[in-house]
Amino acid sequence: MSETKSKFNRRDFLKGSAGVAVAGLGSTLFSTSAAAQKPSFPGNNGSSDKNFWKQVQKEFTLAKDSVYMNVGTTGSMPKSVMQTFTENNEIVAKYPWDMQNKFGSWPYVGEMVADIAPGFGADENEIVLSRNTTDGMISVVSGLDFKEGDVIITTHHEHIGGTSPLFVAADRVGATVVEIEIPVYTGDSPLTKEDFVQAFSNEISKHGDNIRLIMFSHITYKTGTLLPAKEICALARDNGIPTLVDAAHTIGMMNIDLHDMDCDFYAGSGHKWQCGPGATGILYVRQEAERLERFWPSDRRPFYLVNSSLGEDRYSMMSLVQRMQYIGNDHYPAKQALTDSCKLWDEIGRDKIEERVLDLSALCKEELAKKIPGGIFYCPPNRELSSGLTTFDPLAGDVGDGGARLTEFRDRLREDYGYIIRTTNFPLHLGDTTDTYALRISTHLFHDEDDVKGLVEAMAHLYERMA
Ligand SMILES: Cc1ncc(COP(=O)(O)O)c(C=O)c1O
Repeated sequence: MSETKSKFNRRDFLKGSAGVAVAGLGSTLFSTSAAAQKPSFPGNNGSSDKNFWKQVQKEFTLAKDSVYMNVGTTGSMPKSVMQTFTENNEIVAKYPWDMQNKFGSWPYVGEMVADIAPGFGADENEIVLSRNTTDGMISVVSGLDFKEGDVIITTHHEHIGGTSPLFVAADRVGATVVEIEIPVYTGDSPLTKEDFVQAFSNEISKHGDNIRLIMFSHITYKTGTLLPAKEICALARDNGIPTLVDAAHTIGMMNIDLHDMDCDFYAGSGHKWQCGPGATGILYVRQEAERLERFWPSDRRPFYLVNSSLGEDRYSMMSLVQRMQYIGNDHYPAKQALTDSCKLWDEIGRDKIEERVLDLSALCKEELAKKIPGGIFYCPPNRELSSGLTTFDPLAGDVGDGGARLTEFRDRLREDYGYIIRTTNFPLHLGDTTDTYALRISTHLFHDEDDVKGLVEAMAHLYERMA
C-alpha cells in the first residue's frame, strides 16, 4: 500500500539523515550571488577536481528548491550566457534596423559559426545554426531525392522528430522505412558496440542497393544508450549509403569530432545538453553534401535546398549551409547565446565535460544498484555504450497500468523530495504491443556527487514508502 502524500514533508527529508542532497542544495551550485561575468576556468584537473567543478556550477542559476535532472528534455542557460542574451535582445528591440552591428555583417551568423565549428571537429562551411533537432532532421530528410522502391533504415528506438519526416517523405513516393531492432540492455547479458553494428549489417544485406539512407540516434532518448556512431557510419559508407544521425543528446554532452565520425548529416539540439536558449540547434552537413553524388544513383539530384529563403541562382556563390542558414529573419540573440554557450563549453573542455558526465552517470548506476538492488537498468553499464542518461525501473516491472505507478514515483520524487527527472517508455523488442517503462535521470556538468547520492537516497526512501 502506498503511503499518502500528505503524511510526508519534503523538508523533513532534506533536513534529515537521508538528505544527502542538502549539501548539493546549499552548495555553490545554486548560488545566485556571483555577478554574471565572463567566466574563466584555470587549473582544470579533470573530473575529480571538486574545486574546478564547483566553479563550473557557479555559472548556473537553477532554482535552489529542487535538483533539476531532466536535461534530456531541455537544459538551463549559464548566467553569463543569459546576461548577454538579455542585452542583445534589448539591442535588437532598440535598433531593429542595424542591431548596432552586434552580429557582424549579413547574414549575421558567420562569426558565430566560425567560433563554434572547431569545437565539433567541423569546418565552418559545414555548420548551420538551426532551430532544434527536429528542424535539422526535417531540413535534411525533405531535401533528399527519394523514389519509389527506396529503402530507409532506422531503429525501433527513434524520436518522432526524426521518424515523422522519414515516414512522410517515404509515403509520398512509395519508399519504405524499415525499423530494425537494436539490442536493449536489460541487466542480463552485456552488450558490445559490435552487437549494434551487426544489427545494421544484417538489415543492409537484406536490401541490396535499394537503401538510400540510414538514420539513427547517437544516444537513444528511450534508454540513454550510446550507439557506436563512427562504426555504423563506416559500415554505411562501405555500402554507399548516406547517414543522418539524430544528435539531440550528444551536442554539449559528448566530445564530438564530426570529421572523425564521418557521417553525412548530424542534427542536434542547442537547448538540451549544450544549454543554449530554446529553439536553438546545430546541424552538420558534410562538405556541401558532395558525397551524395557518389552514393546516389546518377538520375537523382543529390540534395535539394528546401529549408531556405535564398534562391540558388542568385546566391550560387554561397555555400550550401550558408543558404540553409538563411530562413528569413532570424533570432540572432538566441543564436549568439548558443554560440556563447558553446564557447564556454570549449573553454571548460569538451573532453572534461564528457568525462564528468560519464563519471556522474556511472556513480548514479553504482548507487542505484546498491540501494535498490531489485531494480532493472535499461542503460548499458559499460562506458563505451554509456551516456549522461540513466534509465532504471526501481519497481522491477510492477509499474501499473500504462506505467501509472512509475509516473506516481516520478511525481512524488519531485513533490516530496525535490528531484526532477522524467519517465520513459519504449517497446523492448520490435513489434511489442505493450511498452516497457523506466525512469530517466540526466546527470550534467552542473551536478555533483552529492546531487547524485541525494537522488538515489530519495529514490530508495520513496521505494520503501511505495512498497
Ligand atoms: C532523440 C531525440 N531526437 C529529437 C528530439 C527533438 O528535439 P528538439 O526539441 O531539439 O527538436 C528529442 C527530444 O527530446 C530527442 O530525444
